[in-house]
Amino acid sequence: MHIDDIFLESVDSTQNFAKQNFQQFDKSKITCISAEEQTKGKGRFNRSWLSSKKDNLNITFYFQLKADCLHLTSIAHILALSFIKVLRDKNLDVKIKWPNDVMLLEKKLAGMLCEIEIKNNIADVFLGIGINVNNDQEFIDKIDQKATSLKIETKKDWDKKKILEKLKINFSKNLDLFKEKGFLPFHEKFENLLLYVGDKITFFDGKKEYKGVLHSINAEGCLNLYLPNGEIKCFAAGDILK
Ligand code: BTN
Repeated sequence: MHIDDIFLESVDSTQNFAKQNFQQFDKSKITCISAEEQTKGKGRFNRSWLSSKKDNLNITFYFQLKADCLHLTSIAHILALSFIKVLRDKNLDVKIKWPNDVMLLEKKLAGMLCEIEIKNNIADVFLGIGINVNNDQEFIDKIDQKATSLKIETKKDWDKKKILEKLKINFSKNLDLFKEKGFLPFHEKFENLLLYVGDKITFFDGKKEYKGVLHSINAEGCLNLYLPNGEIKCFAAGDILK
């Protein structure tokens, strides 16, 4: 799928920008909105997403899918895998904290936010990714969870443009495959990159906390949690609190 680019100097949130303007985007393509600065970045579960001017990659991919396409709830996994390939090609041992946090040494390097609006069997997908690229420790210390940046871990500055270009190529290729076969061709790779398999975790599904052992990921990308009563419960959304 081809990609149209929109580069912004400053915006409240690339997600909001995409939602306000998508009527004008070419629906046969992916539109990639990136901003040097986000003044009101959004994270999952209504959390805010912090970024420092020029140091982060703040990106929203907008595209349409059929609402009944296979495994739609796992579309953000595909973006996580596309980004992970960029870093693994640079020999960085990045992992996934389900659903799609990208982690380096168990510290968060990038997060995804997927918002989907469905009308007349068409899904408008607003798929955001925030990446800590050239942030220093002073900024990272302001984040309320264990986090890091590429610069901190590799002790060098990264070229954000190059990361964005590689991410776009990987994502567009993976999206074509996803449209055809859903999550199935990505399942094994995704599961192999997963943190905490076999570990006792606390899981929050948006309403309630569960304690159990992270069992596996099913073929649709959902998390299987092994509960103390022997039941395996499957979740399509939520967070590992650990
Ligand atoms: C999370 O881990 O909670 C998701 C973070 C997603 C942040 C990105 S940055 C680009 C896009 N615009 C936003 O406001 N949020 C996403």
